[in-house]
Formats: sequence, C-alpha cells, structure tokens
Amino acid sequence: MCGIVSYIGPKDPVPILLKGLRRLEYRGYDSAGIALINKNNLQCLKKAGKVSFLESVIDDSAINGFCGIAHTRWATHGEPSDINAHPHLDLKKKIALVHNGIIENYGAVKEVLKKRGISFTSATDSEVLVQLISELYYNSKEKLSFEDAIRAALQEVVGAYGIVVICEDEPGKIIAARMGSPLVLGVGEGEFLIASDASPIVEHTRNVIYLDDNELVSIKDEKFSISKIDSKMIVNKTLTKIDLTIEEIEKGEFPHFMLKEIHDQRHSISDTMRGRFNLDDGTTQLGGIADYFANILSASRIYITACGTSWHAGLIGKHLIEEYSRVPVHVEYASEFRYRNAIIDNNTIIIAISQSGETADTLAAIRKAKELGALTLGVCNVVGSTIARETDAGIFTHTGPEIGVASTKAFTAQLTILIMLALKLGRKKGVSRQKGKKLIRALRHIDQDVSSILNISKKIKKVAESTWKANNFLYLGRGVNFPVALEGALKLKEISYIHAEGYPAAEMKHGPIALIDENMPVVFIAPQDESFPKILANIEEVKARKGIIITITDKINNSLKLLSDHTLVIPKTHKHVFPITCSVVLQMLAYELAVCRDCEIDQPRNLAKSVTVE
Ligand code: F6R
Repeated sequence: MCGIVSYIGPKDPVPILLKGLRRLEYRGYDSAGIALINKNNLQCLKKAGKVSFLESVIDDSAINGFCGIAHTRWATHGEPSDINAHPHLDLKKKIALVHNGIIENYGAVKEVLKKRGISFTSATDSEVLVQLISELYYNSKEKLSFEDAIRAALQEVVGAYGIVVICEDEPGKIIAARMGSPLVLGVGEGEFLIASDASPIVEHTRNVIYLDDNELVSIKDEKFSISKIDSKMIVNKTLTKIDLTIEEIEKGEFPHFMLKEIHDQRHSISDTMRGRFNLDDGTTQLGGIADYFANILSASRIYITACGTSWHAGLIGKHLIEEYSRVPVHVEYASEFRYRNAIIDNNTIIIAISQSGETADTLAAIRKAKELGALTLGVCNVVGSTIARETDAGIFTHTGPEIGVASTKAFTAQLTILIMLALKLGRKKGVSRQKGKKLIRALRHIDQDVSSILNISKKIKKVAESTWKANNFLYLGRGVNFPVALEGALKLKEISYIHAEGYPAAEMKHGPIALIDENMPVVFIAPQDESFPKILANIEEVKARKGIIITITDKINNSLKLLSDHTLVIPKTHKHVFPITCSVVLQMLAYELAVCRDCEIDQPRNLAKSVTVE
C-alpha cells in the first residue's frame, strides 16, 4: 500500500523515479508525486491520479536535480487529490517526505503543532510527520541535526511507517526509516535507491539490504549507514542478492499483468514444485520446514491465518491437511485472529499465508502467536519480506513476482504448497506410497492441464460476452471446492465490480436461492467426484428457478448438458488438484467479464496489492 522510491547518485533521478513509480503502481494509484533537490533548491510536483498524469506534468516543467524521492499513493487519510498527494513539505518548503503507513496519533500531534502556529495544507496523517520533523529541526532548543530531528519526530509518533526524507539544507543526503512498512535499500556503484520493494531497484543493482523495524538509513557522499532509530546503535547488515529478472516484472506481449500471470501458470506451478518431489517414495520434500514436521504432527492444533485470497487458500489447506494428516486445522482471518483470545500455546502451530509477506494483519497475527509461544511458519512468495523473515521457518512459493492486483498465480502456488505439505504430513501418518504417487503424478501433469484450459479461453470469453451485463453472480461448490467458489466470486468482485457471492452448494437453499431468477448467472463447480450427484441436484434447483447455469466440470454428461446454459470442460485430474485447475478457469472468466465491462483490470478501483495498513 503506497509505493516509495528514491534515488541518490550521478544519474538524472527523474526517469529513474518515474520508472520506479510505474513498477510500484500496483501498490496504489490514487496520486503520484516527486521531489528533487537541485543545487540547494527543493522542487516538488504531485498530481492526483495515476503516474501517467504526473509524467505529463513533468514533461512540461523540466524538474531536475541530483537526488530525489517519489511516491504513488493508496489513500488512507484524506481523499485522492493533488494536495493530499505525497511528497509532503514542511511550512518552510525545505523538507520533503514520502510516507507509507499510518500515523495513528496524528490528530494529537497536529493539535500541538497548530498551537505552535503551524498550519496544514493537506488532510493527511503524513504531513504531520514532516511538519514535526521541521519543527524539531529548526526550532528545538537543542539545535538538532536533520537526522536527529527525524529520530526525535519518529519517537513521538505512534503507528506504521516507511519514510524517506530530504532537506534543502543537506542537499546530498537522503534519510529513510522503517517501522512496520517495508523498505529495501539498493546499493549500486556510487548510487543508492530506497524503495518499498525491489522492483524499481533491480535494473540498477542486485545488491540490496532489507531494512528491519526501528532502523534508519542515512546516505551521503556515496556511503550509507544503518542504525537503530531510538538508540542510534549502528547495525551491520549483509547485502542480499536479489534474483529477479526484468521480464518477470514486465507484462511483455500481454495487455494486462493479470492475463500474463494467468498464463504464467502454464509453468509457475511447476516452478513452485521444482525439486520438492520424491516420486519413488510418493512424498514431497519441503526443506524450509524439515526440522518442524514432528512438531506439526504432534501439534494440538494448527491455525492457518491470512487475508483475502490467501485466506481462501488456507480453507483449502485445512481440508487437505486434516484429510491427509488428521491434525486439526482452524483457518482464521488474520484481522480477527490478532484481536481475539485464541487458544495458543507452545503446542500450537501457526501457518501464515501471504503472497506479499507484508500484509499488516497477517504480520500482527504471527507476532502475537509468537509472543504466546506458538511455532510460526510462513508460506510467502516474496523472499526477504517481513513475514518470511519473522516466522520461525517457512516455504517459499517461488511463483515469481505477482504484479496484477488480483491474485492469480500466487493463489495456485499457495494451493500447490498446501497440497505438498498435506501429503508430506500424510505420508508420515500412514498415507500409502501409492496414494502419494497418484497425487504427485497429477501435480506433475498440471502444466499440460493449465495449457488445455487456456486453449478454451475463446469459450470462456463467449460465456463472459453473454453474461457481462448481470449485476450479481453466484458461485457454488462443495467440499474442497467451496473455497474455490469463494475465490471465484472474489476475483469477479475485484476486477469487474459485479457483486458476487460464493456458497457451499447445499447452503443455497437456506437463503441465497431467493435471489435466483432469469438474470442471475450461477457458476457451478461440478467435478465428477463423489459429490457429483448432490451438485447435480443443486443445478436442477437453480434450473427450476430459471437461473443462468454455467458449469465447470471435468466430464460432461447428458444431464449436465441439458441443464447448463454454458459448460466449460477441463481436463480430468486428481480431486485434490482440481481446485487449482478450476481456479484458472474462474480467473479467466473474471478477466473476460472485466474486459467486457471495460474495467481497469490491473488497477481496480479502491484496491492496492499489498495491504500494509490495518
Ligand atoms: C485478492 C488479493 C487479496 C490478497 C490479500 C492478502 O486478489 O490479492 O485478497 O490475497 O490482500 O495479501 P497477501 O497474500 O499478500 O497477504
């Protein structure tokens, strides 16, 4: 949520910062802005709307300098507008700050500053921070240095922040600090970048340092130093090499990142599984948590905690882990889990699932569980992310960067990891080698299955073309496919703004059936497994009420043909792999519906990719 990028070095910062903002735009696109120091002069330009609006203004005004900071915003406090856009400046217009996070006590700090005669131009919490820094720098009796004024200000604020600050009085210096919101320092040849993630950095250097909470980095004269914000204690950190390619963060020939990432699933699920199978033994190898299998198997309970799509993956994970290992699993929204008095002790395992590894609620949930003595495990995609670093151990999904705001390949990668985990645990609990081999074979066939599904994309498009005017959709599935229905509905809501609900198919009769009429498309997830006769009966019930039936199945038969308005037939696979293949169809359906409705697919309104505020 909100993207920050800053540059100091010999090159012109403007193109670097603008390109960086475009890479970070998935984190928010309500407004964008840039501030630069040119000799001893601070210049700032900001604009409501996307980075492209900012670019058009910059073209006209020839802003330049030798170091600069930039920001793309997801609004929390104050509407999206030019004034509320970052960077924010102090009253003297000498200090500029970009901020990601929320200053919780901004109201109280603002009142104190107002009493000292400071007036505010924006409705943001972030402006309070820059005014406070300025007040401490220019007006405190102790005559604080710029850096010490920042430290002092940060000790007065409560909340989460990743900030980068520049000051006209110290033109060759950039200072950044982190508490709760991610910041990565890129260390190049005589140049440095600081950004919310590595994507704006990768083109310039592969050497990075992930800042931790309570750390401040100060860069001047081609040198940087990292210290604790409060104690000033120097922290020696080692450089990490990022292994990210430019192709991975660009959409290539695809019109949208979401479509590219759906197509990536032809190989990304295999990337997730690579080196993690032992076919002969019908089991998997999950090195990251190898030391903890005994703990998991003897745990009194496992909590899976996550948000959004990752929470849906957790629901499927529960189904599989309980089936294969018989260890009880509870799945909780992290935002609820962190505040309730859950039963957690040192025999409890917490599995946090997070693509970004930065989701504020998920992070808070694992911190709380750790405090209570639980073992915490992460299933994350972003290497170096906070959740990946703060959990005791974990498994990376290795699906490559996911840029589209609607999660696609990260979800199928999470499911893949959870299947492999369930199988691993199951094999230790008496699941037969044969059963394991069968599951592995199905997983190994997945590239072909996904390719076959993408080959029916014309058919999926036709379904979209005949249903895109609907105001509501229902998604129904049973058993392990109920969360798949939830995920299908979420995808649709996010990118097409059509209201959609996911339900266990049999629950329809307990309420949602009242909604069904000839205008309501109902998506049935209907593989030919043991639940098929039941779901067929549910399809009959919708047909009797004239609903528009869209069936996704792995085997067509006459009854399905007769009852369904549209059938999408996908390759037969293992019943526990079906949630993955079926999800690809649902992603494509949501995508095509959003295309028909002319929606902003990669940047849906009000959303941001990485929810780093509560
Ligand atoms: C939906 C989506 C969100 C995320 C959620 C958690 O398409 O992407 O619902 O799944 O914000 O994000 P992570 O997995 O990064 O913790």
